[in-house]
Amino acid sequence: MSSKYSLLRLPAFLYSLPTQLIGSRVYSFKEVDSTNQIAMILAEEGAPEGAVVVADRQHNGRGQRGRGWYSPPGVGIYLSIILKPRSVLATVHQLSLLAAVATAECIESATGLKAGIKWPNDVIINNHKVAGILVEAHWAEEIKYLILGIGINVNHTKDMFLTQGFPAATSMAIETGRECLREELLRELMLKLDHWHRIYQEDGFEPLWGRIQDMDRTPGGWVEVVSMGECFEGEALGIDKDASLLVRTGEIVRRVTQGRIRVSCDQLQHLNSTDSNITTPEQH
Ligand code: BTN
Repeated sequence: MSSKYSLLRLPAFLYSLPTQLIGSRVYSFKEVDSTNQIAMILAEEGAPEGAVVVADRQHNGRGQRGRGWYSPPGVGIYLSIILKPRSVLATVHQLSLLAAVATAECIESATGLKAGIKWPNDVIINNHKVAGILVEAHWAEEIKYLILGIGINVNHTKDMFLTQGFPAATSMAIETGRECLREELLRELMLKLDHWHRIYQEDGFEPLWGRIQDMDRTPGGWVEVVSMGECFEGEALGIDKDASLLVRTGEIVRRVTQGRIRVSCDQLQHLNSTDSNITTPEQH
């Protein structure tokens, strides 16, 4: 690891986390370019599965579709986890939704507000994006490891977003009118991620899907899908049992798993693009 980044002393609670996998090792930095990038370097250097990288600030935080993630100091949670799935069946979308559920649950218990999920990676409160997930897979012959990155807008002010040109973004503090303790939130997040990861390993995606039913804010939105030379628009029906998105075009319901999708949502007041792919229609 380059000496460009200096490690911070860990908060005491991180030494005694009652987790099985998440936080097997924790690397805490004052500032980095991107915690996903540092996690990738550490994974290449042999860091174990479950290792977590956190930073107080990112200079080049990465978002979906090559965009950035606004990561000023002192107000957010920027965290990446190294995962080494044994099976490629553990899809990027399933892990992205696992992280979204854990994040939404933490936000709910810290704010008392209902948090929702927009397929595949947005966590929203009152129809505004409060957190995002970025899963990056690294392959050799087969999958080597995944980096699961989570960014949460915790104590950002409205002015911060306005000056950056993100009028539709929100933070937990904006929605509640009070600051939230980031250390407590980070602890809670690691516990929830560990909890859901254990269930996912043991029982697959179905238990998570059950939880998602209650949080899914995708239905009703209008999406544009581009995949394998095909392009269509339709109504997003919701997240299915395998983590795919179901889209209705006329009488046909299509299953979207990878490729490119633009989710248009008037209430979010922005267009969000992500990777996706279409498979053949099924009987929904
Ligand atoms: C999105 O565009 O919604 C995904 C945002 C993901 C941001 C997080 S912050 C921690 C981790 N490190 C990064 O560079 N990106 C992710």
